[in-house]
Amino acid sequence: MKRILLALVALLGYCTASAQPIEVHVADRATNQPTIAPEIYGQFSEHLGTCIYGGLWVGEDSNIPNEDGYRTDVLEALKALQVPVLRWPGGCFADEYHWRDGIGPKENRPRMVNSNWGGTVEDNSFGTHEFLNLCEKLGCEPYISGNVGSGSVEELAKWVEYMTADSGPMAEERKKNGREKPWKVKYLGVGNESWGCGGNMRPEYYSDLYRRYATYCRNFNGNRLYKIASGASDYDFNWTEVLLKQIGHQMHGLSLHYYTVKGWTGSKGSALDFTTDDYYWTLGKALEIEPVIRRHIALMDSVDPEKRIGLLVDEWGTWFDEEPGTVRGHLYQQNTMRDAMVAALTFHVFHRYADRITMANIAQIANVLQAMVLTRDDEMVLTPTYHAFWLYRPHQGAKFVPTTCTAPARKVTPTRSVPEVSVTASRDKAGKIHLSIVNPELEKEPTVVIAFDELKPTTVTGTMLRGDSIDAYNDFGATNRVGVKPFKGAKITKAGIELKLPSASILTLEIE
Ligand code: AHR
Repeated sequence: MKRILLALVALLGYCTASAQPIEVHVADRATNQPTIAPEIYGQFSEHLGTCIYGGLWVGEDSNIPNEDGYRTDVLEALKALQVPVLRWPGGCFADEYHWRDGIGPKENRPRMVNSNWGGTVEDNSFGTHEFLNLCEKLGCEPYISGNVGSGSVEELAKWVEYMTADSGPMAEERKKNGREKPWKVKYLGVGNESWGCGGNMRPEYYSDLYRRYATYCRNFNGNRLYKIASGASDYDFNWTEVLLKQIGHQMHGLSLHYYTVKGWTGSKGSALDFTTDDYYWTLGKALEIEPVIRRHIALMDSVDPEKRIGLLVDEWGTWFDEEPGTVRGHLYQQNTMRDAMVAALTFHVFHRYADRITMANIAQIANVLQAMVLTRDDEMVLTPTYHAFWLYRPHQGAKFVPTTCTAPARKVTPTRSVPEVSVTASRDKAGKIHLSIVNPELEKEPTVVIAFDELKPTTVTGTMLRGDSIDAYNDFGATNRVGVKPFKGAKITKAGIELKLPSASILTLEIE
């Protein structure tokens, strides 16, 4: 196989240090910069494959160690990630989900066929209480995706009341089911992919429906809903334009979906077995999210220059072929350093538009697509993408700091290129600067010199994510092949900071 063995490449001396150092400038004097919403590091969980059942939830009676039915290992891993927000129950599943099926005694809950995802029988043992209690355990905001495609206005309105009202018939029912205090639920998605699996609607028709749903989903007891219109996918700018015109005044947020995928028909390529060309192609496709976002934002700016409406990229990530031997329709894929690269480079894009992007939710949190964790029976694997999210935690809620970088770009298709080095920076509440640097190049190890407007660094510590190869991955029984390690190669100089950047690496520096 055409594996790209970085260690070997380095050994043979193929890694080249560019003659010219790459210059990074950190504009730490810049004022009026946006805060990077913590929710940009949000997650998505769907009743799909083993994301919920087996991934997050095993039930109280399981032999797998659990806390009130939630897997202990996964819970601990996710707590360490500081998940800010979790979207649920779909995805496409959301528009077939009837919340009443998932409350009350488990033995009375009806079963249903999950027709979107492999025809698996869903027993509804994980429902509203199980989800909202999970969010409480994780300390994250819940994001409920409401059923517009096959539900009713009344159904969604009552769901909101059930979750958030203090008194009244819905609150009484909730209390009878064991939850006295209402939950706080801020984020409410009004449908999902309403142009597709969520009802195959036209934007004009969806806009009219949105008006009705938004009218009757009320704020109870000081809970303030942030209502999110079901937005476009990729390059469907017409969907965005019509929605903004018709319901811009009624929405708090507008969603956008963008997957790094080869296409929707035929093979999407293997998550594990790929060539160097496939690798660079994937990064180019991932980075195309930037011009896509820019065009949607331009439309938003034209009707909302004050940036009142948030853009929520509430589904994104890599989408490859399902792993051979796994259940069709369960979207189980492995995850390599390539996926971590996609994640890190995408974070940099999100940071650049932090004045408009209020949330992003990678698809998905466990066992589906670009997952954080993979589980098999009582085993759990943290993926390279998990480690990328972990490495970027300091940027959550920090102030964006503009940067420039002189790195050239590699042309990967006639219309797409990938920078040879990509940087992003932020300043946290304590005043520390975090600078993340991605070197996507497989054979280049440039010297990077970092200068600041005014900061004279006195300390710098680094943490790096890197594998032995770009297709390195963690697996059951081999959980530590890819992970983060201290990086000691950054030194303070008169000009700022200097380091030699290992190939195919992702680095976060903490600078004071
Ligand atoms: O994440 C998998 C699916 O992708 C979601 O259910 C759907 O919204 C999108 O098409």
